[in-house]
Amino acid sequence: MKALADEKGLRFTQVHVHIGSGGDPEKWRENIDRELGFVRSYFPDATTVSFGGGLKVARMPGEKQADITSLGAYAKQRVEEFKAATGRELTMEIEPGTFVVANSGHIVTKIIDKKLTNGMNFLIVDGGMELLTRPLLYGSEHPIAIVRQDGTLLSSEYDQTPTAGLKPFGIVGRCCESGDSVRLDKDGNIVPVLIIEPEIGDYVVIGGTGAYSESMSPENYNSHRKPGAVMKTRSGELVLIRKKQVREQLVQNELDVKL
Ligand SMILES: Cc1ncc(COP(=O)(O)O)c(C=O)c1O
Repeated sequence: MKALADEKGLRFTQVHVHIGSGGDPEKWRENIDRELGFVRSYFPDATTVSFGGGLKVARMPGEKQADITSLGAYAKQRVEEFKAATGRELTMEIEPGTFVVANSGHIVTKIIDKKLTNGMNFLIVDGGMELLTRPLLYGSEHPIAIVRQDGTLLSSEYDQTPTAGLKPFGIVGRCCESGDSVRLDKDGNIVPVLIIEPEIGDYVVIGGTGAYSESMSPENYNSHRKPGAVMKTRSGELVLIRKKQVREQLVQNELDVKL
């Protein structure tokens, strides 16, 4: 590639690497070293390096979040050492999408049915894999809170309360797919969530959905309409920032065909 770039007179001034989301912080460190090695050997004109995203966010209690201060200090030190060794000053960038927004998004679903069976108890909610596809794609876990219609919190995995009186429920959507659940194991089997038993009409709140739910969802799956979206402002006010889709929007591009 370098030979081709030289032949065409191309100069690379920015070098970017992204290791994938949710990575191990140790890999992030290794990635810095690898990228600076590339810049040193192959990109003499580069003045900017981007270390990409991939900063691990703790969505579930017990998960360990990347220590961004320590990773930043490491990156700074390596860029300074690079300058001392080569005389080249680099501007450093990162792309911390998930790190910034993951835990600021929550999906609020309503329980529309309950099925109590000998094998497993289920809550059917009005939003599943068409809103949050990560569990189905790669078994990601999101904290669940159960809230009564009047706003009373029944149970929360966010802060692990309460610890007694919890019952296992599979929480599933309306897409009629075996993987349409908020919690799945690596083989795609439904994993029950421990909650205080709610009633139909109560809410299941799914946390850690600021990244990635909207951008990744199989939108309008089974003709389910895209829900409205609400943002909490700095003053704590809840503001509607998107209306729920209306049915006409699902069919607006369909054309009449004369047979
Ligand atoms: C090039 C690039 N940069 C940044 C990101 C964001 O990474 P993260 O979601 O870990 O913040 C992505 C996500 O896929 C990406 O492809």
